[in-house]
Parts: sequence; C-alpha cells; structure tokens
Amino acid sequence: MSLIAERPTPHPKSLTPEQVAAYRRDGYLFPIPVMTPAEAAACRGRLEAFEAREGAPLRGALRHKSHLLFPWLWELVHHPRILDAVEDILGPNLLCWSSSFFIKEANDPHFVSWHQDSTYWGLSEPEIITAWVALSPSTIASGAMKVIPGSHGEQVAHTDTYDENNLLTRGQELAVEVDESQAVDMTLEPGQMSLHHVRIFHGSEPNRSDDRRIGFAIRYIPTHVRQVIGPKDGAVLVRGVDHFHNFVPEPAPDADLSPAALAAHKAAAERQAAILYAGTQTTSFENVVRG
Ligand code: NI
Repeated sequence: MSLIAERPTPHPKSLTPEQVAAYRRDGYLFPIPVMTPAEAAACRGRLEAFEAREGAPLRGALRHKSHLLFPWLWELVHHPRILDAVEDILGPNLLCWSSSFFIKEANDPHFVSWHQDSTYWGLSEPEIITAWVALSPSTIASGAMKVIPGSHGEQVAHTDTYDENNLLTRGQELAVEVDESQAVDMTLEPGQMSLHHVRIFHGSEPNRSDDRRIGFAIRYIPTHVRQVIGPKDGAVLVRGVDHFHNFVPEPAPDADLSPAALAAHKAAAERQAAILYAGTQTTSFENVVRG
C-alpha cells in the first residue's frame, strides 16, 4: 500500500494562498461563507420542524453523525463550498468521518471546556479539519467557539471531568494552563463556517443570549488517514476517490429517520462510541454527545 499522501491541489478552489498559509500557521480560519442567510434559515427551519414534531430539542445520539439520519444534512456535508475550502487544505480525496450538532439553548449553562479534538478520536495523524457551520448567530453572547492561535503544534495531556454541563463526551479539558488573553472568538453569522485543526486549543462559554446557538460541526479527513482504536470505523467518501478503504462506507439516508437510516446510524454510533469511550466504564452511545 502506498504511504504517499495526496498533496493539496496546486490551484486552490476557493481559499486564497494567504488563507491556506494563515490556516497552517494559526490552526483556524473564519468566517467563510457557505450558504446565504435564507439557506441557513431553511436548514434551521428543517431542524426545528423536526423538533416541533418530536416535542423536544434534538437529543443524545441523534445529534451525532446526523448526516446519516437526515437527507438535508447529507447534502450539507457534501456542500461544494465546504468541500472546496477543505480540499484546498487536505487535498482532493476526502472522507466525512463524523458530524455533531453543538446546540446551546437560550440562556443555557452548557459550555465546552478547553480541549484538543485529537485527544480521543484515535485517528492516525492530525490532518483533520472540522468545518463548523453556523445555523444561528454565533456571537460572544451566545457562546461562540474560541481558539488559541497557533496552539495546534503538539498533543498535550487532558483530564476527564465528566462535568454535567460540559458538552464534551468525557468533560475532558486541557491539563495545561490556557492564556485566555490570547483567545480569538470565532463569531459567525448564520450560513458562515469556521475551519479548525484537530489539535487547536478551543472551547466555548455558556449561551447568555435569548436565541439558540446552533452549530453543525463536520469532521473531514483525507482518505489515507486510519482509525487506530477499536473496531473498523466508518466514514462517507464525499469527494474524489478512496484508494485506501480504511473505513466502512456509510450510506445516505433515504428519508428523515427512516428504518434503514436509523439502523445505519445505530451501527455508526456504536462504532464511534467504542472509540470515543475506549478505556472508560461508559459504553452507551446515547451519551456520545450530551445535550
Ligand atoms: Ni472540539
């Protein structure tokens, strides 16, 4: 098997060379337009119409890998504006490894502690980008994601807190001091996204605004990356070709929460729970993303 990674395309599809250089130096980039405000409002409307039918906000495991449950989210993880930007950094052959809604209700105490995403994901190398798409205003008041520029160089130790207001799986937080005076707030309008590196120090505050803060985080990897923990992991080929076959291909949902989509999603969630909770007592995929 070839160990030569695909190189990023020499002619950028959407990012300027300066933006690519800024991402590599800083570990993040924002804001990048993906959808018009009307398109973003339509996405939010789809989510909230589903929640209205259910009588409750989207919960638990349904917030994780939701692109396997809802055709409109399958479309979003394939959105050409997102993929063009990600391709400019990771190259032409791309998998969507996972996705998660990060929803904070109005005046909600939930927060995200300072952490590095790479800590528990088990992937073979740090060539991983999260595209965080705003479906409502992500402001300082509503608890926008914040990052420490240039902190993506090395993996550092984390402590698991299991704090009940922490939106992360283990309540994990950096075991090193964070200089908050260096933090940059990645504020976004609905329809814009930020990109961040899997090792960037990041976190977010509670939502102190009167609107929900809704973000959909999509994790992309180049096809040569491997899962190094647990059973064979799954992913969706979203662009280019996969010569490596390191992941089980995950299927498109045929309709919102159809029996086939629910079965595929359950299998995918169990695979990822086995990875994200490796070495702990917790096994329930209901807790993969709390909410
Ligand atoms: Ni994170």
